[in-house]
Amino acid sequence: MAANSLLLLLSLSLTVFFIPTSLAADADPLQDFCVADLHSPVAVNGFPCKRNTTVVPDDFFSSAISVAGNTNNMFGSSVTPANVLTFAGLNTLGLSMNRVDIAHGGVNPPHIHPRATELGFVVKGKVLVGFVTTAGVFYSKVLGPGMNFIIPRGLMHFELNVGEGEALEITAFNSQLPGTVVSSVTLFGSKPPIPDAVLSRTFQVDDKIIDLIKSKFGN
Ligand code: GLV
Ligand code: MN
Repeated sequence: MAANSLLLLLSLSLTVFFIPTSLAADADPLQDFCVADLHSPVAVNGFPCKRNTTVVPDDFFSSAISVAGNTNNMFGSSVTPANVLTFAGLNTLGLSMNRVDIAHGGVNPPHIHPRATELGFVVKGKVLVGFVTTAGVFYSKVLGPGMNFIIPRGLMHFELNVGEGEALEITAFNSQLPGTVVSSVTLFGSKPPIPDAVLSRTFQVDDKIIDLIKSKFGN
């Protein structure tokens, strides 16, 4: 067989074998379920499974997001997760949900999920949803009840309540633990703090302004 045909065959088989796994945010499970043993001293990618003999029906049912979160905070919003940490039955299954309550005028501030794409559903209220691509393009829209939005994995996004009352969204992720990096909290509230010199140069303002912002985030 000519070298070119061999190369083509090789690249086709690589595509067939590697695309399905590389598209999944979390690895595929190798068993029906693996209810997380959150207290195991063993550290693995995810959590070890509880023994099947100790699995109970309640491992597969949850009220983690049944109650509205407290939005009485600096952002006027609250994110309540149903992820592997609050719903152990999700372990190894590659998905999770959030409940996002946003008070009148509140914001779920700019953040990213390093391990998942987000699919959102607006249950109540009116929200401006936006994200920015790696090319710096901002996509946004005001959504009402019944509408969906998608935030591609790892992109910076937010939701601002622009309605007259409270807003409620349910969001779903293709990861049991998508992770959340809130830009303001990460940059200005880390422990220990990021040096002023880094932030003042980054944001092109003087240290006083950096210190003022840091003070709002506990630094
Ligand atoms: C919304 O952006 C969420 O992370 O649930
Ligand atoms: Mn999000």
